Amino acid sequence: MKILAISGSLRAASTNTALLRAAQRLAPAGMAITLYDKLGHLPIFNPDDDGEPAPALVRDFRRRLQDCDGLLIACPEYAHGVPGGIKNALDWVVGSSELVDKPTALLHASPRSEISRGALAEILVTMSARLVPEATATVPLLGRPPAEMDDILAGPVAEADIRAALVAFAAAVAASREAVAAVS
Ligand SMILES: Cc1cc2nc3c(=O)[nH]c(=O)nc-3n(C[C@H](O)[C@H](O)[C@H](O)COP(=O)(O)O)c2cc1C
Repeated sequence: MKILAISGSLRAASTNTALLRAAQRLAPAGMAITLYDKLGHLPIFNPDDDGEPAPALVRDFRRRLQDCDGLLIACPEYAHGVPGGIKNALDWVVGSSELVDKPTALLHASPRSEISRGALAEILVTMSARLVPEATATVPLLGRPPAEMDDILAGPVAEADIRAALVAFAAAVAASREAVAAVS
């Protein structure tokens, strides 16, 4: 089961990226999580550039989305909104539809950020992604320096929460695959 993970933060010491790296480490058997690392390199979305062929990095991003069985996102809140980088990436796949019916789970590195969580969910649902609400975990990493972050992520509470979210996600992805197989 192939999962593509996207961090909405480009910061080197990002708590969201650290959370996704922990998810990579804690993934259940049979689940492989790959971290997308080109978010900051995608061109700014312009419908005029969304023709044939689309820019190379956009084609690569679309291919990665096509190839994965599910999408895992951890994303900060900026000024009560979704950071521009991830919104830009999502805008590139509105028309090409790679997110349609894609099982998608959200992990949270901050106990705040409720407004952007809601906005991100609204964007994903509008794009017809299949949000998996039971596959979520919040790990309080906000404002933690890297060493403390690592300690929290290696602790039993965080590990259990992340594992439980990923197990729920694996079940939802498997169910989604079976549903697709049943109609084809
Ligand atoms: C420009 C900017 C705006 C922010 N606005 C908010 C906000 O509106 N609400 C909030 O809860 N946190 C806000 N924050 C805090 C970030 O969401 C928080 O630091 C987050 O953990 C950063 O994620 P990262 O560690 O993955 O980079 C803001 C941070 C920045 C840099």
